Amino acid sequence: MLNAYYLCILVVMNGKTTIIISGYTGKEAVALHRYLSKHYTINTVDDAEEVLHLLDTEDIDLLLCKHTSGQFDALELLRRARISHPEVVRLLAGDLSQAEINQATEKAAIYQFVASAWSAMQVELLVSRALENRELSYRHRHLSQDFKLAEHVLRKHQVKTGQGDRRAQFEKLVYCSPSMANLCNLAKKASTTNLPILIQGETGTGKELVARGIHHNSNRSELPLMVHNCGGMSDELLHSELFGHKRGSFTGAVSDRMGLFPAADGGTVFLDEIADVSPTFQVSLLRFLQEGEVKPLGSDQIIKCDVRVIAACNQPLDVLITRGEFRQDLYYRLNGFQLNVPPLRQRIEDVEVLTEFLVQKYASEINRTILGISPGVMEKFMLHSWPGNVRELENEIKRMMALTDSGTFIMEGALSPHLAALKPKLKSPSVDFNLDGITLKEKVAQMEARIIAETLERLRWNQSKAAIELGLSRVGISNKIKRYGLNDSTTVI
Ligand SMILES: Nc1ncnc2c1ncn2[C@@H]1O[C@H](COP(=O)(O)OP(=O)(O)OP(=O)(O)O)[C@@H](O)[C@H]1O
Ligand SMILES: [Mg+2]
Repeated sequence: MLNAYYLCILVVMNGKTTIIISGYTGKEAVALHRYLSKHYTINTVDDAEEVLHLLDTEDIDLLLCKHTSGQFDALELLRRARISHPEVVRLLAGDLSQAEINQATEKAAIYQFVASAWSAMQVELLVSRALENRELSYRHRHLSQDFKLAEHVLRKHQVKTGQGDRRAQFEKLVYCSPSMANLCNLAKKASTTNLPILIQGETGTGKELVARGIHHNSNRSELPLMVHNCGGMSDELLHSELFGHKRGSFTGAVSDRMGLFPAADGGTVFLDEIADVSPTFQVSLLRFLQEGEVKPLGSDQIIKCDVRVIAACNQPLDVLITRGEFRQDLYYRLNGFQLNVPPLRQRIEDVEVLTEFLVQKYASEINRTILGISPGVMEKFMLHSWPGNVRELENEIKRMMALTDSGTFIMEGALSPHLAALKPKLKSPSVDFNLDGITLKEKVAQMEARIIAETLERLRWNQSKAAIELGLSRVGISNKIKRYGLNDSTTVI
């Protein structure tokens, strides 16, 4: 039974108030107060329930209880405190037998026993060591947690993808996939020539980065690279932008303007979204590519300019040609070298190296220390099909980084909902239910096998549920599974 005859000191770090009640004689209390109050705030409480209440409501670091046999059961209080507040350091004082001390160590997990003979100075030293120890184990726990996570991420990257070794770069393009390696090798070769280049690929795959890489690797790198997006522009404006115009040549032309081609003389012009150019302007472009000269709007003067043209589009130009939307002769002129940038979903191994690169890039831009990406996030990244390609990945990473505190990992909680909701697909290998060239009986059997396999896959191989859904008995479905050689790694294709 707990009562008021005990000393219980609750120590709060970095405070200044100390009150010591019962258990200690006046001199003892004064001495303890003097030493402990130099560094800590002291609350003196004489009731066990009040101590527990205070532990609930205040931020307490250390609990020092003095046991008085037959009057105050400090052992019981410390045992209860251990359960309700295990983080609080527990010290037990008083005249106790070895058996009681052993019991306190075992049941209350006390940090240290304080013998009655100890001076206040010794108690104060013990308190500071106990708190130091708590701080160290706290830090150790957190660091090893981070370390474990970091190690996991590192191991995953090094063992599974060999990230550090495998990351390759062509100018600002980062990759590790063989398809991008081929593309960049071709781009390097193309950069040593003067041939026009056509870069095709879905939006956000890095076409502009490829174009910039080619220019910087070419012998034109000291001269300008002019980038122009041809999408959504009238022919007049496009003519003025690329070839230039004379003052007064159209409404709003208040001064002469040098076009991009003459301005880039000796360098490179990158024409993005070339497929958006009108049939009329396609003729003008073709003429330029054949002659290497431009005539600014409203001018009779012909200007010779030596530029390497790199064009890009989001859709295959040959498809547009078959639909009559793009001139074949212009296509041949642009297509000195053709580079097709694969979509990210076809080189999913690049996601890991790109993620690490982009996290590093934006962490230094926003001056934030990000320890890395958690394996759970990477798993979701690997499951996504990235219709917006690297640009989409880049935007997702930027968004997640904005939600991540400095000094921590990017965790799944920061994922966009559509990524967080992704679930792994069921495993291969696949069963090919090809219905060609077989009898009706065989076709029907294959259809049946397919329906059963699909149902089982959907119901995560719960055979009872599948049997109910298909109107079969449990034995019936089991026989069919055996007959068709289905198993839980079967995928329907
Ligand atoms: N391999 C890569 N390594 C690093 N960053 C990349 C890579 N590919 C693309 N990016 C980044 O993704 C974004 C989109 O790239 P880019 O503008 O070159 O794509 P695009 O194919 O020209 O897109 P669009 O068709 O929409 O014009 C850019 O911010 C770019 O820096
Ligand atoms: Mg682009």
